[in-house]
Amino acid sequence: MDHDPIVARLRAAGCVFAEREAAFVRRHLSDPGDIERAVEARVTGMPLEHAVGVAEFAGLVVAVADGVFVPRRRAEVMAEVASTHRPDARVVVDLGCGCGALAAALSTRLPGAEVHGVDVDPASVVVARVNGRRFGFHAHHGSWWDGLPSSLRGRVDLAVGYLPHVPTDRVDQIHADFRAHEPRHMVDGGATGLDHLRAVAAPLTDWLSPDGALVTLLSAGQAPDVPGRVLHADDEDAVVALHPGTMGHWAS
Ligand SMILES: C[S@@+](CC[C@H](N)C(=O)[O-])C[C@H]1O[C@@H](n2cnc3c(N)ncnc32)[C@H](O)[C@@H]1O
Repeated sequence: MDHDPIVARLRAAGCVFAEREAAFVRRHLSDPGDIERAVEARVTGMPLEHAVGVAEFAGLVVAVADGVFVPRRRAEVMAEVASTHRPDARVVVDLGCGCGALAAALSTRLPGAEVHGVDVDPASVVVARVNGRRFGFHAHHGSWWDGLPSSLRGRVDLAVGYLPHVPTDRVDQIHADFRAHEPRHMVDGGATGLDHLRAVAAPLTDWLSPDGALVTLLSAGQAPDVPGRVLHADDEDAVVALHPGTMGHWAS
């Protein structure tokens, strides 16, 4: 029997981590009306972060909104690994920035760097601009490199991309709450999951500075199919760095 009424409602709605979710709600909301609206949204199936309006990512609290990709804790390692790989980066871009969680984390870790995020989804860019004002990065609307200011061409020291990389036939395995609130194009990476990485990697030479790198997160099983250096790997994921000089014709 749950004595905490929020825990009880979340548990009754099937939330497995009801205590943790109730604590998240209380950590970020204090107004009783806001708490009630968030709990009601959550019990009707909205992802917790959308219901509350924020996500916790790499020690930061970033704004999110319904329809915008919820930053995943599994991607936090990218910020750590990428900033360690290129601690001297002066120009950084976050390709497919969503709400800009990675851009925010990199702005914080690389305080001297000029950081830009880009996303094709207009609603994501609206939220990324809110986070950009708070954490000090620029957010642009458009498709991959084409959405970035041309003045960045040849100057990008570090590009990070948590790209849609789920193979099409596995998208249905994503939790139903997320599937209902995040458009499919945010996760679907085509038959092998690597379509977007190839598109992003093809013009890499034009955009990166001579020692620049593209750091991306893939499933551990995809990493051997990519001509990059594995910077971090666990049972599920791999963080891979691609450099134009070592890609051969992979992306063309
Ligand atoms: C897996 S989500 C990652 C979002 C964000 N980086 C994060 O970690 O929360 C992939 C993002 O790529 C964006 N995206 C998909 N196709 C794109 C394209 N052609 N150009 C730019 N962004 C794109 C989606 O809208 C989505 O926000």
